[in-house]
Amino acid sequence: MNSARVIGVRSVELGVRDLNQSSTFYKDVWGLEEVATESNALYLRGTGRDHHLLALREQGKASLLAVDFEAADRDAVNQLHAKAKGYGVTIFGDPAPRPAFEGGGYGFKFHTPDGLPIRITCGIGQHQDTTIDRSRPTKIAHVVLNSGTTEAQIRFFVDVLGFKLTDSTHLMEFLRCSSDHHSMALFRNNGPSLNHIAYEVPDIDGLMRGSGRLKRNGFNVEWGIGRHGPGNNVFSYFIEPNGFVTEYTTEVEQIDDASHIYGDAAFWDRLPQKPDRWGMAGLPSNRMQLAMSGALYQSNAEPNSNERCEDIIGRKLG
Ligand SMILES: [Fe+2]
Repeated sequence: MNSARVIGVRSVELGVRDLNQSSTFYKDVWGLEEVATESNALYLRGTGRDHHLLALREQGKASLLAVDFEAADRDAVNQLHAKAKGYGVTIFGDPAPRPAFEGGGYGFKFHTPDGLPIRITCGIGQHQDTTIDRSRPTKIAHVVLNSGTTEAQIRFFVDVLGFKLTDSTHLMEFLRCSSDHHSMALFRNNGPSLNHIAYEVPDIDGLMRGSGRLKRNGFNVEWGIGRHGPGNNVFSYFIEPNGFVTEYTTEVEQIDDASHIYGDAAFWDRLPQKPDRWGMAGLPSNRMQLAMSGALYQSNAEPNSNERCEDIIGRKLG
C-alpha cells in the first residue's frame, strides 16, 4: 500500500506588489529575518530551524505562489508525485532538486483540484542556530485556503496527500499532518484563494508583545486577541501591506491519533462562545472578512486606504 504522506507545512511563497514595502513589514514589523535573495525574490526565516518561512517575489500584484509542505524522503516525494498525477491534477514537471537559495531539497509543484499552487519537498536545509525571542515567529503554524468546492478539496488532501480530518465547523474543515491540530484548513467561500497564514510564537506573552510591535507600527489587531474553538489556539490577526491576512498564534492543541475524537459542526455549535472561547474578540470586522475572502489582495488595492477598502466592500456586497 502506498503510505507516502505530507508531514508538515514549512513555508509560503507570495507574490507582492512592492518588494521593499513587503520586506520592511516582514523584517521590521512581523519579526522575520532575511536569509537569501535571488533576482526579484527575498527569503525570510523565523527563529526556528526552518530554512525560511516566507518567500516574497515582486511581480506587480499580490498572489499566492506556493504553499510548501514537507515529505519524509525522496521515496515519499516520488510516491506523492505519482498519486497526484494519478488523481489528474495539474503538475509542473517531475520531482527535481531545488535551488540552494530556497534551502535545496527535492520536490515538485502542482495545483490542487481548485487550482491553488502547492509544493512538496524533502530534505530542505535547516539552520543550526535558533533565536530566543518570544515575540517573533518560530514556524508556520497553518495555512487556510478558501474553496468553493470544499468536499472535493478534502478528498484530495486526505486521499492523495495523507492528511487527516481533525474537526469541522459550518465554515471550516481542519486538516492535520502532524501532532498539530491543523496544518491546513479549508474555508467555505465562493472560490479558491488564500484566506490567511498563521505563524506560531512561543507563548501568549510573546503573542502580546508581537501584537504590540504591530500596533506601534500602525497595524492594529484586526481580529482578536482570542482563543479559537477547534485547535484551542490563541489568535491575533492583522492585514499586511498587500492585503493578505497574517496571524500570530500559540498554544495550538496537540493531537494524539489514538485518542482524538473528531468534532463535527453540530459538536462545535454547542460551544457557548464562538469563534472565541474567551468571548473577547467577537466576530471579524467587515474589513477582515473581506481580506479573509481573498478579495482584498486580489483587488490589488492599497489595503490601508479606507476609501478603497469601502469601495471593495461595496462592490462585493453590492
Ligand atoms: Fe488561523
